[in-house]
Amino acid sequence: MPDLHNIALIGFMAVGKSAVGRNLAKRLSRRFVDLDRMIEKRSGLKVREIFESKGEPYFRELEKQTLAELLQQQDHVIATGGGVVMDDENLRLLKDKTILVCLTASTDAILARVGSGAKRPLLRGPNRRERIEELLNLRAEKYAQAHVTIDTSNLTLEQVVDQIVTAVDNFQ
Ligand code: S3P
Repeated sequence: MPDLHNIALIGFMAVGKSAVGRNLAKRLSRRFVDLDRMIEKRSGLKVREIFESKGEPYFRELEKQTLAELLQQQDHVIATGGGVVMDDENLRLLKDKTILVCLTASTDAILARVGSGAKRPLLRGPNRRERIEELLNLRAEKYAQAHVTIDTSNLTLEQVVDQIVTAVDNFQ
């Protein structure tokens, strides 16, 4: 049984984790924390800059440390970065310490939402659709381990938040 006081959002880039998390936190009167923004504050660098100057393994180490620290606290709504689940220990901690909600969206919806993709180092390259599908395939089995999954493709932000609130109520 997960610790019922934290709620964490996982899912692919651009599915809306940060916007949904912020609104959900407001609705539940909880503190909202965006893991990527916390990493940026600590390092003084944008995620894109960390990837460029230090490389992905360095980012993943910062991500792991920051998540572990964050999960020692309670009563938060946490938005994570899309790749956090690829580390088994991160995923285990998230499953143990949070009600883990995965937001999904169709590849078309993701493509539309990433826009230019300039802020997302993992989506650089000529064929963005292929890249998204490749990463989704690699990650599907991890995302599927969430306690709750919500397909956001045809939902408004408000509707996604409503569905999470209902799902969280059913957990208590
Ligand atoms: C990543 C997703 C990004 C950010 C980093 C790596 C990923 O966060 O953590 O660029 O591996 O999917 P968002 O999911 O908020 O875009």
